[in-house]
Amino acid sequence: MRALLGLIFSVLLLAPPSWAQNVGALPPFIQQQANVPILHEGARIQPVYSQHGMVVSADKYASQVGQNILMQGGNAVDAAVAVAFTMAVTMPRAGNLGGGGFMLVYDAKNKTTRAIDYREKAPLAASANMYLDENGEVDENLARFSYKSAGVPGTVKGMELAFRLYGSLDWQALLDPAIHYASNGVRVSQSLAESLQKKAAHLWKSPAARKVFFKQDHFYSAGDTLYQKDLAKTLVTLAKEGADAFYKGDIATRIALDMKKNGGLITMQDLAEYQAVLREPLVGYYRGYKVLSMPPPSSGGVHLIQMLKALEQFPIQQQRWGHGSSDTMHVMAEVMRQAYADRSKYLGDTDFVSVPIKALMSDLYAIRTAKGISMASATPSELVEGGKFLPDESPQTTHFTIVDKWGNVVTNTYTLNFSYGSGHMVAGTGILLNNEMDDFVSKVGVANAYGLIGNEKNAIEPEKRPLSSMTPTLVFDADDQFYMALGSPGGSRIITSVLNVLMNVIDHNMNLAEAITAPRMHHQYMPDKVQVEKGFSLDTLKLLNHKGHTVEEVAPMGAVMAVKRAPKGQKGYVAFADTRRADAFVAVQTQPQDNNPLARKDMDWLSDLFE
Ligand code: GLY
Repeated sequence: MRALLGLIFSVLLLAPPSWAQNVGALPPFIQQQANVPILHEGARIQPVYSQHGMVVSADKYASQVGQNILMQGGNAVDAAVAVAFTMAVTMPRAGNLGGGGFMLVYDAKNKTTRAIDYREKAPLAASANMYLDENGEVDENLARFSYKSAGVPGTVKGMELAFRLYGSLDWQALLDPAIHYASNGVRVSQSLAESLQKKAAHLWKSPAARKVFFKQDHFYSAGDTLYQKDLAKTLVTLAKEGADAFYKGDIATRIALDMKKNGGLITMQDLAEYQAVLREPLVGYYRGYKVLSMPPPSSGGVHLIQMLKALEQFPIQQQRWGHGSSDTMHVMAEVMRQAYADRSKYLGDTDFVSVPIKALMSDLYAIRTAKGISMASATPSELVEGGKFLPDESPQTTHFTIVDKWGNVVTNTYTLNFSYGSGHMVAGTGILLNNEMDDFVSKVGVANAYGLIGNEKNAIEPEKRPLSSMTPTLVFDADDQFYMALGSPGGSRIITSVLNVLMNVIDHNMNLAEAITAPRMHHQYMPDKVQVEKGFSLDTLKLLNHKGHTVEEVAPMGAVMAVKRAPKGQKGYVAFADTRRADAFVAVQTQPQDNNPLARKDMDWLSDLFE
């Protein structure tokens, strides 16, 4: 009997399944395969795919550092902290210890998003007219290239706060890669060499920066090794003593002394009192997607959501419109014009002034804005006395986006303002100083370096944060599942760079790589010009001229680093690092780790941090 049963079993086991007996039939896994491809082979350009974590930044060293942290079992915030410190070394034009920025963190387990504001703030001794000369005119050199142009730096506190909330590896381990690159050197890329040459006149004037960024009396060339020994010492101190070293300890003392010696305003008290702040992200909806972005003191989130809501009133996805049609570009220009006009009128640090955020992001206002747009002709921007545009200033903010294998996401933008900030380096520390104070309004009606104007809402006051355009953004689908994360540098064009890419994905159905590489357009009310990257149809640009727009071709705008979820039902993510940055890189986690989900910390103390 037993033998008979055995025979029956063997026959059953050996018998081919029914689909295999039918020549031409397909096995279930082929019949049931999802028919939504992740990569859509056939597109002109493809994003990078990963089943697990990804790090997208403007710097290859930094992306690889983040990747290593993920491979060690770190989460997205661990990787972000390591990436931010590394970029202060490997991409010193924008990565920083002496600047500030904004981070959004999506905690996949708890389905919550927090915004960390580590924007610089005005020193206690700052005052509204501090950059005006004896004739009442703005002294641009003072506002942009002096020690007085520095706000109290926020980056170190910002990273510490992110780490305290979410970090899972050792603090020291997150600083080790930066220490390694500062002391053992980084290979100078062509892009780094060129950026140093471009800013040479400013960097040469700072004795500490001259020592680091020049080879005696020569420029660094691609292939050279750049060592930053003082910065390495500073990072070692931070690794051992934590952020307090920067705000109260030895590093603070050095910053305060250097400030005093060189006419700067930042004191020990300013540093000791600096706090990174947890804020509620702004939320808006665009064609069924939920968009979360940065509240003031960044103007990014308000205006991104404001613009999206007004654009939603138009059938942009329809074929007759589409990417790059004159109708689409016209309404984008008109909506951007309105948003930047509102920026100049209403926006400032909400800890100091009231800002009509809800009204600007309301349905009613979106409908009113859309109704006010004539499809036939451009609405001329009002002339603003003193408004001017200085496109040669290099906005070298930088953005990185990270997702880990648990689905946690960090989207972070930080900056020194200009490339290498003011060009001044604090003696003995390797820390470059920001010139973020120029993001305040020094005089009503006079534009800052990005041509942005404003009023008393963004006037300088002690401890106030200058208005920013940084727009780290998260998007969720109608089921509240993570959809994409992105952000960009680009000064005043940050908000519109993010807008262009979001529309390319949501309205024009482009894959992430196409969406990021497609030519972008921008309008900021003043100057009254539609600024376009090379690549739009000349016929379209002529049609815009006929509607009354002045169209100007400008240098590439922004550098979007983004991650997007694979199509529903598929595992993993796609990412793309904007090719507008030569060293941009997507690093992919190839092995999952299971032991470090986000939010390991005791969160009881957290409620005190909310405003
Ligand atoms: N410094 C540029 C910005 O914050 O918008």
